Amino acid sequence: MAVDSPTAPAPVEPPPFRPGLEGVPATQSAICDIDGLQGLLTYRGYTVDDLVAHSSFLETAYLLIWGELPTAAELQAFEQEVQMHRRVSFRIRDMMKCFPSAGHPMDALQASAATLGLFYSHRALDNPEYIVGAVVRLLAKISTMVAAFQLIRKGQDPIQPRDDLPYAANFLYMLTEREPHPLAARIFDACLILHAEHSLNASTFSARVTASTLTDPYAVVASAVGTLAGPLHGGANEDVLAMLAEIGSADRVEPWLDQAIAQKQKIMGFGHREYKVKDPRAVILQKLAEQLFDQFGHDPLYDLARKLEDVAAERLGPKGIYPNVDFYSGLVYRKLGIPEDLFTPIFAIARTAGWLAHWKEQLGANRIYRPSQIYTGAANRDWIPLQAR
Ligand code: CMC
Repeated sequence: MAVDSPTAPAPVEPPPFRPGLEGVPATQSAICDIDGLQGLLTYRGYTVDDLVAHSSFLETAYLLIWGELPTAAELQAFEQEVQMHRRVSFRIRDMMKCFPSAGHPMDALQASAATLGLFYSHRALDNPEYIVGAVVRLLAKISTMVAAFQLIRKGQDPIQPRDDLPYAANFLYMLTEREPHPLAARIFDACLILHAEHSLNASTFSARVTASTLTDPYAVVASAVGTLAGPLHGGANEDVLAMLAEIGSADRVEPWLDQAIAQKQKIMGFGHREYKVKDPRAVILQKLAEQLFDQFGHDPLYDLARKLEDVAAERLGPKGIYPNVDFYSGLVYRKLGIPEDLFTPIFAIARTAGWLAHWKEQLGANRIYRPSQIYTGAANRDWIPLQAR
């Protein structure tokens, strides 16, 4: 029975339904801009090309979260704060030891990120010091937790972060127990910059929806990690290497692709809702991959990937489907010796900067997300007693 509400406003015509909210603005944001026809990506007005050439991941995170490039003193203080908070409690490390070692590191990361909320449970969203503290802790501890789970699942104890190493180098050190080559550390840092932010993608939308309930920032990041894990989003970078391995050799690229297209299979690492040209991050990552191959030796999978890109340009290019960020990132990480199932957790380490920027922006002009729906179910059904079904 309808509720009697004589003062209710007259119903308004709902906007048309757009599956996946394609083209529907769901927020206003000053953080990141994408020009999908020109292939341009900017963070706070700076191109990612400039940031990769001149910045570091932590400086870029500062820019994303606080809106301006830091001064030298601000950057030094921010780096020191992050460095001071890199360690995670032995309780979290012990909890991770109880995780199944065959479990996916993204699940381990989502659980660990949420656990931080237990340790830092005093929520004070209107206190700027609380905001700074949460930003610093999350940026610092997410990477430590990813590295810790990697060692724990191999049956080893996690190693402590090294205070003398910058962010990217320290992560590679915690992961491999070896200080990385400076070129490897620089290229890994560039990868973090490239993955740090990308406007209202699925995981960032998830972060903003969660943030809009005024829950704690650890829940915000944990919900975003869960969303990033799927194969249509962050999980695609793992699948690209599996796909290249399945193709096997350059002479199999054309028949493989033709068959995949005929079967309406999605080609992993290709296509993007926002870009109708090659993703600018893929352009940069391809150059970074080549630098790594020049220094540390060639990877035959790269030749295969390039052949696939060329053939796909003929077949899928007319539909605006080109390589996205995930197409070359896996080849870079593989050359750096990173296990395939850590590719998406690394994406999460970087994207934590973007999620936190959106968390902060959402808090600045918050209204809880509560979209409508178009009901397509049954109506006015007569109750059927259990014995009559
Ligand atoms: N291979 C073949 N066809 C494709 C692909 C692809 N990778 N991507 C899109 N299409 C086709 C699709 O079949 C459809 O064709 P038609 O109109 O004839 O039915 C058309 O393009 C539109 O596809 P869509 O799935 O409606 O596009 P979307 O904007 O919803 O999806 C996407 C974007 C990224 C989910 C999709 O391109 C995809 O599944 N790509 C493969 C997975 C992948 O690489 N994901 C990483 C995305 S970038 C990193 C990130 O954001 O996490």
